[in-house]
Amino acid sequence: MRFLTAGESHGEALSGIISEYPSGVKIDEDFINYELSRRQKGYGRGGRVKIEADQVKILSGVRKNKSTGSPISFLIFNKDWQNWRQKLQFEESLLNPRPGHADLSGFLKYRLESIRDVIERSSARETAARVCVGAFSKLVLKHLDINIYSYVEQIGNKKLAGTLNALLAGDVNIVQILEDIEKSPVRCPDEEISKLMIEEIDKAKNEGDTLGGKFKVIASGLPPGLGSFDQWDSRFDARVAAAFMSIPSIKVVEIGEGFLAPFFHGKEFHDEIYYDDIRGFYRKTNRAGGIEGGMTNGQPVIITASAKPIPTTVKGLQSVNIKTKNIENSLSERSDVCAVPSAAVVGEAVLAQEILNAFQDKFGKDSLEEVLENYNNYKKYLKEI
Ligand SMILES: Cc1cc2nc3c(=O)[nH]c(=O)nc-3n(C[C@H](O)[C@H](O)[C@H](O)COP(=O)(O)O)c2cc1C
Repeated sequence: MRFLTAGESHGEALSGIISEYPSGVKIDEDFINYELSRRQKGYGRGGRVKIEADQVKILSGVRKNKSTGSPISFLIFNKDWQNWRQKLQFEESLLNPRPGHADLSGFLKYRLESIRDVIERSSARETAARVCVGAFSKLVLKHLDINIYSYVEQIGNKKLAGTLNALLAGDVNIVQILEDIEKSPVRCPDEEISKLMIEEIDKAKNEGDTLGGKFKVIASGLPPGLGSFDQWDSRFDARVAAAFMSIPSIKVVEIGEGFLAPFFHGKEFHDEIYYDDIRGFYRKTNRAGGIEGGMTNGQPVIITASAKPIPTTVKGLQSVNIKTKNIENSLSERSDVCAVPSAAVVGEAVLAQEILNAFQDKFGKDSLEEVLENYNNYKKYLKEI
């Protein structure tokens, strides 16, 4: 499956084309819109999310609510476009780039007259289209019993500890935890830590400042053998890392306990292999985060991503006017204070899309029926071996 997105932050619409999407998948628009609404939530988002109520409009590749195998094209209209139509035509050139944004390099690279032309496309508004592609991917993954969920682990210096181990050990009510995550304004399952995170965001907002943070995305129900060690670019870990890195503001992608790995000895770090007749091959730990040798190993895939603080601040940071070379504060406009909860939802989308891709590489891409047939055969083989 391949896709392209187009569209600008304050343009009429975002658009996307998904190619090589399997036929025979029931396309549930309500589910896609629900996923789009999850991206828009999150304490710390700016005024924009109050204007938009993202809805997908599917233009092709679907008939009688089922994918046909032809390219799917879609639109997500920007309600805010009406407010910007005139402004975008008559606005004076913006010349004071924001540190931490694409502004300066984009202006120089494309030989532009105003930073506006950089802002419009480099804006994370594009992630709405990514979430839409992720939702299409999740519609296939549902048939394969693969679940993807996310939560926020850190905002500023307010941190959550322990949830992942409890989730993986199965000694908690997973449904309850997932409900708590969706209910929390910051996607954090712990009510007390959620409150501290909200306070942290309020404090940053009052000081005209911004925050970053850390989130986890977990995919369960994967078989061993997605991805490959055959070539560098078929490694599942490489693809997943690139996908997460493509989310604006993400600066670190960690697989399993990758960040702590150098502090372990080999005897302690690696997830030893066990076997019994019911579970087949299994592990008691998952420090590898479900990926070994560029392939899934049958354990849940666990990704942690760190987002830097939002670059747009109310008063701006020191910058230089590109034309006059005078020192000026960087430009400022309506912006989020913290977008980590939304980034987590985008993380789910990019992981879903990479998992679907890896599934299609191994089990076929033309129709859902073919993917399911091949996958069931593989599961049978795994049971019999
Ligand atoms: C969901 C989401 C919303 C974001 N909202 C804003 C925003 O309102 N203002 C802003 O300056 N940056 C925002 N960012 C971050 C910037 O888009 C990002 O830092 C910038 O494009 C530079 O890219 P880089 O951080 O990957 O280098 C957001 C990121 C995400 C994932």
